[in-house]
Amino acid sequence: MFYHIVTYGCQMNVHESEKIAFILEEMGYKPTDKREDADIIVFNTCAIREGAEERVFGNVGALKKLKKMRPSLIIAVCGCMTQKINTAKTFKQKFPFVDIIIGTFNLYKIGDYVRELQNKKVLELWESGAIDETKGYTRTSGENAWVNIMQGCNNFCTYCIVPYVRGREISRTPENIIKEIEEIVRSGKYKKITLLGQNVNSYGKDLIPSITFAELLRRISEINGDFKIGFMTSHPKDITDELIDEIANNEKVLKELHLPAQSGNNRILKLMNRKYTREHYLDLIRKIRNKIPNIKLTSDFIVGFPTETEEEFLDTMSLVNEVKFNGIFAFMYSLREGTVASKMEGQVPEEIKKIRVNKLLSLEKKIQKEELK
Ligand code: SAH
Ligand code: SF4
Ligand code: F3S
Repeated sequence: MFYHIVTYGCQMNVHESEKIAFILEEMGYKPTDKREDADIIVFNTCAIREGAEERVFGNVGALKKLKKMRPSLIIAVCGCMTQKINTAKTFKQKFPFVDIIIGTFNLYKIGDYVRELQNKKVLELWESGAIDETKGYTRTSGENAWVNIMQGCNNFCTYCIVPYVRGREISRTPENIIKEIEEIVRSGKYKKITLLGQNVNSYGKDLIPSITFAELLRRISEINGDFKIGFMTSHPKDITDELIDEIANNEKVLKELHLPAQSGNNRILKLMNRKYTREHYLDLIRKIRNKIPNIKLTSDFIVGFPTETEEEFLDTMSLVNEVKFNGIFAFMYSLREGTVASKMEGQVPEEIKKIRVNKLLSLEKKIQKEELK
């Protein structure tokens, strides 16, 4: 019996696919790279932009033939797309040959659903729930081990679907995290631990007693062994001096920070509900570089947010030019049904978004070339 997992989206999903792999291996399945050989194919989906969703629809649709040839093949779709009820329903209508549809919260029950499939009914589940602590992971990223420290997001940036498909912030306890990392380190197979959360800076605020992310880093670094700690993602509004000092002074913490700015224009930042200004962001960068001169800084930007003018876009260009990041990701704004920005007037035409994203990417290329010199 073989399984094949196709993963879309962020590290969170990559890591959750490691959990799916673990569960399927517990049931006796073995991994295969070839869809044709698989007895179960799992699509772990991403909903962040329309393009990501279209790719999934295309790839799931392409399985129709395979399923017809081999009706015993189990096809499961999970992840952020299926956590949206409307999209889950679309799956059911468009692809009736899909056997299992589960959202993000119930992913760890996939084994139960595979067993239940004997009843020959399509299974769907997307009610929200707590963090699963019962299942392990079949790790797939070499010397790096992903460790999830929290789920969900409370920030509701107006363009973003994540709070709707991942729920509110819930932190894992430091004890559970440390126990997991101790085991990872003891196995001797990993040199790097990457902590995952949509906004790791707000880790621990919901716990009793509460604990800061910097404290968590400190406690993890006290584990004996030769390993480095990385983390993602950080929200600029929540970066504290305590955290900057911890990154600066803790030898085990990698000098890397992914700090998405999204825009360089204050009116757009406000409409995005990012809760910081351009000036605050630039001050933060200065402070960080001051304390950690060798820090590797990266960022994300969205162009063509509703009502963004050419001038406002140029503020993003000038911010990128001023900071000279070690790397950036630039995205064209993608309308996500159900978010606040999806209802805003003044949606920017695709052609303009394309021109802007290309301008931003060529600026980035130019900066990287100059930095290389
Ligand atoms: N929690 C992380 C990552 C969010 S998703 C954070 O807050 O930084 C990763 C990136 O996708 C975001 O930083 C943003 O730049 C981009 N993104 C999110 N929603 C988007 C949308 N609707 N259209 C285009 N890009 C989007
Ligand atoms: Fe989305 Fe904003 Fe939360 Fe990041 S912080 S996941 S961009 S809502
Ligand atoms: Fe995509 Fe879900 Fe991650 S929407 S970016 S897979 S949290």
